[in-house]
Amino acid sequence: MKRLGILLSGRGSNFEAIADSVGAGRIDAEIAVVLSNRPEARGLEIARSRGLNAVCIPSKGLDREVYDRMVVEELKKNRVDLVCLAGFMRLLSAYFIREFPLRILNIHPSLLPAFPGLDAQHQALEHGVKLSGCTVHFVDENLDSGPILIQTAVPVLDDDTADSLSARILKQEHRIYTEAIRLVLSRKFRIEGRRVIAG
Ligand code: GAR
Repeated sequence: MKRLGILLSGRGSNFEAIADSVGAGRIDAEIAVVLSNRPEARGLEIARSRGLNAVCIPSKGLDREVYDRMVVEELKKNRVDLVCLAGFMRLLSAYFIREFPLRILNIHPSLLPAFPGLDAQHQALEHGVKLSGCTVHFVDENLDSGPILIQTAVPVLDDDTADSLSARILKQEHRIYTEAIRLVLSRKFRIEGRRVIAG
């Protein structure tokens, strides 16, 4: 069975959605490790309460590649096949990417390439777009870059706040992350340039 490594920095709702999908058999894999760079991440607590292997490797003050080498070692120790970034608020080094070629996914709360980086929902509101959404993509060395697996759009309403828009997007994040993981595990896709073509 394929083994997932989940990396997170905070709340962990995407991780929970993935764990639910694993539990329900929608994802044919097991969660080998849940790893956080922040000791206080709620996602770690959730992992422990679900009886999962929860590991904290604090990143504070460490050089990026030094840190990434520690994380990669932990992932390899747990024989992880696919790495899922779920609110992991760090850029990965070239070293990390090379160790897991086309085996690292990320979810981002906008229709990339619009609004990469922090506070994507706030950026969408400020810009005045009428549609936003979320994206699951392969991770490369750049911020919120890499070939796109799945996107879904949601409306931006006139009375939206960053919170209400985030909640609408989050619901879709939880759905499409499972879909994207299923697609990658099925290996029924090919990549042409930047395009990921399913089937
Ligand atoms: C999610 O909205 C995710 O898309 C976003 O952080 C949130 C984490 O929530 N990620 C990024 O902005 C990455 N650039 P969660 O901890 O409840 O899954």
